[in-house]
Amino acid sequence: MTVFGRMHAISGDITAFEGDAIVNAANETLLGGGGVDGAIHQAAGPGLLQECRALGGCPTGEARITGGHKLRARYVIHTVGPIWSGGRDDDPALAACYRNALRLAAEHGCRTIAFPAISTGVYRFPFDRASRIAVAATAMELERLPSIEAVTFVLFGTEPLARFQAILTAASA
Ligand code: AR6
Repeated sequence: MTVFGRMHAISGDITAFEGDAIVNAANETLLGGGGVDGAIHQAAGPGLLQECRALGGCPTGEARITGGHKLRARYVIHTVGPIWSGGRDDDPALAACYRNALRLAAEHGCRTIAFPAISTGVYRFPFDRASRIAVAATAMELERLPSIEAVTFVLFGTEPLARFQAILTAASA
């Protein structure tokens, strides 16, 4: 299977994902927040926050793993996207989030993993630019990680899904 055959996009709520891991778009404290981070903590229950407290935070671009607690996913992989500052320096930090999350997933034996659109909400990264980075970084990493069978990008709404899907289709052509 080609790397693009292992990448899928859907619209929905990532907390409902049934698979090995979901990725959280967290902040450097790893102590929760709004957006997808708030939704994941809400669905996982207080045990997730307790486990996150012991991690001592996470620098931008890196990733940390916890259990899934009350979620259907076995693990939550927390990564911290860059806050959009309007320049090219933001791109490698966002790519590192996807690469590091995928590596951590593979190290823990995950075969199926779901990503939200990291940095495109509160952190204001332009959506199409972020989507191109997500697709390119994931495709590059999947070449090196044959044990990962499926990466699902969970977009929040049908309009973001259509935009992401167009970028994914163009990249795979
Ligand atoms: N399922 C899938 N996607 C979602 C969901 C959901 N349940 N909820 C929101 N999104 P954001 P960031 C989308 O702001 O930009 C937090 O406070 C949303 O539409 O959650 O990386 C953290 O603690 C958007 O496209 O994350 C940090 O402080 C995408 O998820 C900060 O926000 C990411 O939006 C991180 O900001």
